[in-house]
Amino acid sequence: MLFLMCAPSERPSKEPGWSRLQLTVVILVPFCLLCVGILLGVCIVQGHHCAWKQDPEEPPDDQMLMSPDKCLKDLIYDMSTSGSGSGLPLLVQRTIARTIVLQETIGKGRFGEVWRGKWRGEDVAVKIFSSRDERSWFREAEIYQTIMLRHENILGFIAADNKGIRLTNNGSWTQLWLVSEYHEHGSLYDYLNRYTVSMEGMVILALSVASGLAHLHMEIIGTQGKPAIAHRDLKSKNVLVRRNGTAVIADLGLAVKHDSSTNTIDIPSNHRVGTKR
Ligand SMILES: Nc1ncnc2c1ncn2[C@@H]1O[C@H](COP(=O)(O)OP(=O)(O)OP(=O)(O)O)[C@@H](O)[C@H]1O
Ligand SMILES: *[C@@H]1O[C@H](CO)[C@@H](O)[C@H](O)[C@H]1NC(C)=O
Ligand SMILES: *[C@@H]1O[C@H](CO)[C@@H](O)[C@H](O)[C@H]1NC(C)=O
Repeated sequence: MLFLMCAPSERPSKEPGWSRLQLTVVILVPFCLLCVGILLGVCIVQGHHCAWKQDPEEPPDDQMLMSPDKCLKDLIYDMSTSGSGSGLPLLVQRTIARTIVLQETIGKGRFGEVWRGKWRGEDVAVKIFSSRDERSWFREAEIYQTIMLRHENILGFIAADNKGIRLTNNGSWTQLWLVSEYHEHGSLYDYLNRYTVSMEGMVILALSVASGLAHLHMEIIGTQGKPAIAHRDLKSKNVLVRRNGTAVIADLGLAVKHDSSTNTIDIPSNHRVGTKR
């Protein structure tokens, strides 16, 4: 009788024991999952934080090239000594072009306007093509970035950039920029109209144009060589005068390169070029 009384009373007492275990499982499992979740969350946030912190230091090369104390002379020096020898990395060119502040127009060419701009306090010349003349822009940039083209008597090229699409009230268009060194005397044509040049001055001008042209025409053979280049539009308006009376050849947009291995030039020769007399 006592046994019988005990047996049923122990059974119901065992059942809450099982449910207690179940309860623990039911509580512990989500708790552990929550802990793991929080841990994962913390890891992700920290990782993200680290990545975010590291991001601005990501391109060390360009940072080095673009350090704020670099002036144009240093950049042009970097450009002629580093890497391919053909020009600054595209990203650096773009960065320079997008931090130029235009000041005033200084000329009008066939393919657009020439402006004087300021970059880090220094004057630069910016030739702006409209998107219609994209091919002229591309061609001129390509010629200026020929390996080993750089010379004392050839206009110092700095950067090419398509400034992206600008939205205006009349639609959208791209602005294509060519950035080069600025020479305040302007073209030889303007210079000769404004100043009387001495015999010695003339010799210096003639010598520098001849040296620049000789360098253009000369073929340099080797991996860091340059092809022979014909200017095809040399005139006093396309020669710029430096402050010290020497000159540089500019406006290489119509130039062609000669490939000596195949004896061909790099664009069809039936294009009409030059300036009408
Ligand atoms: N780097 C520069 N520094 C100072 N002035 C410049 C510079 N580049 C161009 N100019 C001025 O802008 C004018 C126009 O130059 P650009 O070479 O674009 O055209 P152009 O020679 O007049 O025309 P075309 O393309 O028909 O030969 C030049 O005559 C010169 O006065
Ligand atoms: C819009 O106007 C600008 C000058 O404000 C001009 O240079 C450009 O060519 C025009 N674009 C179109 C699509 O007409
Ligand atoms: C004129 O200036 C250029 C660069 O500024 C320099 O390379 C050249 O030697 C100078 N020439 C003379 C004759 O002073």
